[in-house]
Amino acid sequence: MNKTFRDSLFDQAKAWVLEAGATIRNKINDPLDIGTKSDANDLVTSMDKETESFFIKNIRASYPEHLILSEEGYGDHLTTLNGTVWIIDPIDGTMNFVHQKRNFAISIGIYHDGIGEIGIIYDVMADILFYAKRNEGAYKNNVRLAPLNPNLKFEEAIFGLNHFWLCENRLVDERRMQDFVKTIRGSRTYGSAALELAYVAEGIMDGYLSMNLAPWDVAAGIVIVGEVGGITSDIDGVPVNMLDKSSILTCNPTIQKRIIADYLQTGKK
Ligand code: IPD
Ligand code: CA
Ligand code: CA
Repeated sequence: MNKTFRDSLFDQAKAWVLEAGATIRNKINDPLDIGTKSDANDLVTSMDKETESFFIKNIRASYPEHLILSEEGYGDHLTTLNGTVWIIDPIDGTMNFVHQKRNFAISIGIYHDGIGEIGIIYDVMADILFYAKRNEGAYKNNVRLAPLNPNLKFEEAIFGLNHFWLCENRLVDERRMQDFVKTIRGSRTYGSAALELAYVAEGIMDGYLSMNLAPWDVAAGIVIVGEVGGITSDIDGVPVNMLDKSSILTCNPTIQKRIIADYLQTGKK
């Protein structure tokens, strides 16, 4: 993607994200229409739909040739990543949005022919914007993020995780995951995959592991983490397929191979 075009695309995407975020903040105490999707805990609200529609309407008007992959179904049904594709999660952390009115984000990744060119993650209530353009570094607000610590010790790592290490699950041996949790320094669960990837980029967490995420949960975060030298794959070490659901391991490359070999490929599957 041509740099001048990418710069203007980023400026436009950022302006829309900030505008959508301001709208959400202004309406944060308004009554919500809350529904469910795949199960009773998979929430969707009128605000998720309104925010996604805002992006789709603007993208279609300004960039009619671009394609859109988005969570609430107003985008395109894609079978390839050819061309320029906006991968949008209008509210990542809907459960936090509903129950806590904080700790949720707007997440937008813009990919060109399958390569992540732009990542934007906006913590709406904290008004913190994480962003990156490929090969131009990652930023928190306007401050460039430092490269990840190459000397990270496994025993001092903090990881973002969900409850899969507590519960029997299809993919990994939960007893090995319990060993993992006991070996690292600490684990955290923030409830927004996008923000958790941003925290890895910021260096306040050393990794994030999840068993079943969608492209819109991670598209922006992968670009941002990549710009500070972080690595993202599925739990087998294979690059993430942006057209499908996937497990996700994002971390400091210093520890990636050890986690896969010692904890993720030890039974199950
Ligand atoms: C969810 C959040 C959550 C993760 C779920 C996602 P949503 O996204 O990222 O942290 O554990 O798997 O589905 O539904 O709030 O956009
Ligand atoms: Ca999400
Ligand atoms: Ca969402």
